[in-house]
Amino acid sequence: MSDNVRVVFIDNPPVNGLGAAVRTYLMNELERALADEKVEAIVLSGKGKMFSAGADIREFGKEPSFGTPSLPDLIDAIERSKKPVVAAIHGVAAGGGLELALGCHARIATPDARLGLPEVTLGIIPGAGGTQRLPRLIGIKESLGLITEGKLIPAPKAHALGFVDEIASGDLMSAATALASRATLRRTSELPVADDPSAVAEARKAAAKSRGFEAPLAAIEAIQAAATLPKDQGFRKEREIFLKLVSSDQSKALRHVFFAERESAKIPDVPPETKTKDVASAGVIGCGTMGGGIAMCFANAGIPVVVVEGDASALERGLERIRGLYESSMSRGRISKDDFDKRMSLLSGTTDFSRVSQADIVVEAVFEEMLVKKNVFEKLDSICKEGAILATNTSSLDVNEIALSTSRPSSVIGTHFFSPANVMKLLECVRGTETSKETIASVFQLAKKLDKVAVLVGVGDGFVGNRMLYAYRRQADFLLEDGALPHEVDQAVVDFGLPMGPYAMADLAGLDIGWAVRKRQEATRPKHLRYSTIPDRICELGRFGQKTGAGFYRYEKGSRTPIPDPEIAALVEGVSRELGIERRSFTKEEIVERCVYALINEGARVLEEGIALRASDIDLVWIHGYGFPRYRGGPMFYADTVGVKKVYDAVSRFHVEQGEWMRPAPLLERLAREGGAFQG
Ligand code: CAA
Ligand code: NAI
Repeated sequence: MSDNVRVVFIDNPPVNGLGAAVRTYLMNELERALADEKVEAIVLSGKGKMFSAGADIREFGKEPSFGTPSLPDLIDAIERSKKPVVAAIHGVAAGGGLELALGCHARIATPDARLGLPEVTLGIIPGAGGTQRLPRLIGIKESLGLITEGKLIPAPKAHALGFVDEIASGDLMSAATALASRATLRRTSELPVADDPSAVAEARKAAAKSRGFEAPLAAIEAIQAAATLPKDQGFRKEREIFLKLVSSDQSKALRHVFFAERESAKIPDVPPETKTKDVASAGVIGCGTMGGGIAMCFANAGIPVVVVEGDASALERGLERIRGLYESSMSRGRISKDDFDKRMSLLSGTTDFSRVSQADIVVEAVFEEMLVKKNVFEKLDSICKEGAILATNTSSLDVNEIALSTSRPSSVIGTHFFSPANVMKLLECVRGTETSKETIASVFQLAKKLDKVAVLVGVGDGFVGNRMLYAYRRQADFLLEDGALPHEVDQAVVDFGLPMGPYAMADLAGLDIGWAVRKRQEATRPKHLRYSTIPDRICELGRFGQKTGAGFYRYEKGSRTPIPDPEIAALVEGVSRELGIERRSFTKEEIVERCVYALINEGARVLEEGIALRASDIDLVWIHGYGFPRYRGGPMFYADTVGVKKVYDAVSRFHVEQGEWMRPAPLLERLAREGGAFQG
């Protein structure tokens, strides 16, 4: 390396976060290098796995200690430097990390490095010049795409776009030093940038689709300011917006989710050093709706998978469905022909159980009937190799009972995928009494490979997600009896940020399965508890949802658009009359309160019963399994945002009005009394 080039490292494991100490160090090192006559140029690089993942998110909302340079000040000082500074990027340059690099006079990256400005995913915008410098390098249109989506892109793409100057084919540090020796003082913020009103309009339209989410629209405003305001004003505008968003509820919620997603894999009695089994091959039993989707998850992750069906024609139909789904992904450009061929070649189907004998994991996804499942597990027990993980996708049955039908209950675990399994991110991992730590750790490791968010849950009807869903749906049904109509409930919930209301969702999933379960439970249903007959009466009309062209809504032939149906309004009003309820209208806020507070109250019970390990795990279940708006942090975080006391008061009121179902959970009551919160 050249003697005249000073190399300065960011050294703050694990991700080189740009916390106060790092910023102070970098500023001091810059000043020393500038003062040293022998130094002609500087290379800025990262120690360890990456360049830098940006600002230290844990510092947000806290005042930096006196004398600490802010990130914008540090970056300005670098850009103003009279000696060229080159960023040498490997691993990741994200957020403030990339902004730091954009303030340098040139950037060089390894071919496998990833770069981006993911701030919107944390409910903020880049706050250290990113929205002002990036457009000056790659134009408004490309910057809009990168910043509003917040994705990291590979270095070669960043090079093609123009914000990486060189890709290092050999040793990064040698190439960076060579580049520094010949670099000029090209100051990004002094480059011109032209406005692009049509790209801005396009981006606004796209951002409006993420209903209620503020950050993307705010980012667009800041990016456009780079072209429409004088330079200093543009930077000031960005900072103003950043500071406003950093203290917003949405940003707090998104930061909570960021850490929750990392926390969920930490299981108190399953330490990180727990032995794991690597899953290199898989079997799936049942090629129906779920089995097919689960098999796709394995193939997508490059893991060979054999699907076993009891019935040859069901197998053929299931495999055809998988092929169709892949073909449609290919025709929409989501996967290439190569991806398609590779995935299909990893997948095979059979009616011969012995084909899964050597699989590292077998996931059962047959009918939801205990006897059928037990038979399957007995068979697996006799066939599968020692050490194989035996998993069930049951959505409600007792995993312990299933485990006891084998001679190896420690290898049995629930892996509850959500429909469509190849799309939804959530994996509820159901821990049975005997499930071993090794089995749990291995399934969590596998979940990462499958790109799923794994959450550990305990055995119990509906585990976490569906149990809370029952409480939510019950409230929705009571709202119908009390005066609302299905489309009013759905609209309020959608405006709150969920992708679909409970009735559009019920029609999509089909009403007949729930009806069959309720009929089975009718004899044992506690009669003192309020029970709405509306869903049963709709099924009695042969309306099972989209598949029969009618359910809570009606559907035009071939269409999936729900249309409010006067026949249902009459049915609902008739039920209220029979019950002697004087119907009243509900505001959207009241509807959301009733439905979401019911979720929170049930969530509190789930938590105190130990079915979930922590409140943030419940939030992940609802965000990744049911589309609860991420920018609200999940139902339990939302309770903290609203104030637990306020939620408790409302639930207590519902309890008086509606009876036992809405009795406040003891945990909710205690937190309200103590002025506490779910996030400790
Ligand atoms: N601040 C604080 N902690 C961070 C962090 C950050 N920016 N990024 C990651 N961490 C922590 C994680 O919480 C985790 O901690 P634990 O081990 O205690 O759980 C640890 O670092 C490792 O992180 P991952 O498990 O995520 O590691 P990974 O290798 O899977 O992923 C990564 C690495 C792609 C960089 C990923 O961590 C990531 O995406 N980080 C966030 C990047 C980001 O959003 N940066 C923007 C910050 S905002 C900003 O910079 C504002 C500004 O403009 C001034
Ligand atoms: P499905 O009815 O679509 O598929 C079940 C498949 O299993 C059928 O193709 C059937 O032929 C096959 N099968 C039945 N017995 C078999 C046996 N002994 N050996 C081999 N194959 C057999 O059912 P779906 O919806 O895929 O559900 C499967 C499991 O997943 C159930 O336990 C269900 O509760 C659970 N689940 C379902 C969700 C959903 O939204 N459909 C969501 C999450 C879990």
